[in-house]
Amino acid sequence: MNPMSTSNTDILVHTEAGISTITFNRVGKKNSITSSMYATLADLFEAAATDAAVRVVVLQGDVAVFSAGNDIADFLQNPPETLDAPVFRLMRAVAAFPKPLLAAVCGPAVGIGTTLLFHCDLVYAGDNAAFSMPFVNLGLCPEAASSLLVPQMLGYHRAAEALLLGEPFFAEAALEVGLVNRILPPTECNAVAQAQARKLAAKPLAALIETKRLLKLGQAPAVLERIEQEGARFIRMLAEPAAREAFSAFVEKRRPDFQQL
Ligand code: COA
Repeated sequence: MNPMSTSNTDILVHTEAGISTITFNRVGKKNSITSSMYATLADLFEAAATDAAVRVVVLQGDVAVFSAGNDIADFLQNPPETLDAPVFRLMRAVAAFPKPLLAAVCGPAVGIGTTLLFHCDLVYAGDNAAFSMPFVNLGLCPEAASSLLVPQMLGYHRAAEALLLGEPFFAEAALEVGLVNRILPPTECNAVAQAQARKLAAKPLAALIETKRLLKLGQAPAVLERIEQEGARFIRMLAEPAAREAFSAFVEKRRPDFQQL
């Protein structure tokens, strides 16, 4: 089987002229990500890292929603139990991805929909983009090394606001702190990411890889270590009462009650 293909219809992949475009395709559930989608994504990133046909990867969602983050119902039924679970495999594969990685983000980018962006090299946002990391509101802790990377990029106090309150911030704020490169009309976002990807795909790959490696040299081991440290806590917290209450409330479409927790 072509390493850059998938039978999972919730994730689309198209590789052409050195550019592999991975698309979240579960719009009915706001592109929330199930365990099987994490496994597919992890396989794709692991394959793309060494596939000579892939020089650049673009990650994109829908014009109205990038991703609502973890599928909460799936989390209730299939919580990750070890650091080998697909969600953590994806985080490591993206954090260590050696080639240029671009994202086109329109609409909500919740949880891992935002934390993945800290591992992308170029991010293009629709003017409707809304970024949020509501882990505390779900009784959880940060993931994907966001407890390290968010304060590095936003500064401590804005990071604390984003991670403790878990409220959304929007495209202009993301541009100001450097999380996104450009704000665009949502209908142009994917096309601009593709145009930038074409420029990168035409450049010498070894020079791109070496430059990215050097750009990340200072933080690379710490990022992988933080993914593991957060992951161990995240797995434990998933089974605790606050997360169970938050997830049940979401599925039952009611407000969570944390009064006793
Ligand atoms: N997990 C599972 N299902 C989800 C989901 C998620 N993270 N996010 C949305 N959905 C589902 C909803 O349950 C709903 O399903 P239904 O039509 O079968 O009832 C459908 O997607 C549409 O969602 P809805 O909330 O009605 O859309 P919206 O446009 O009003 O709001 C969001 C969009 C993304 C702001 C909102 O869905 C949301 O906040 N989702 C949860 C985000 C979250 O906490 N993610 C976890 C991060 S760790």
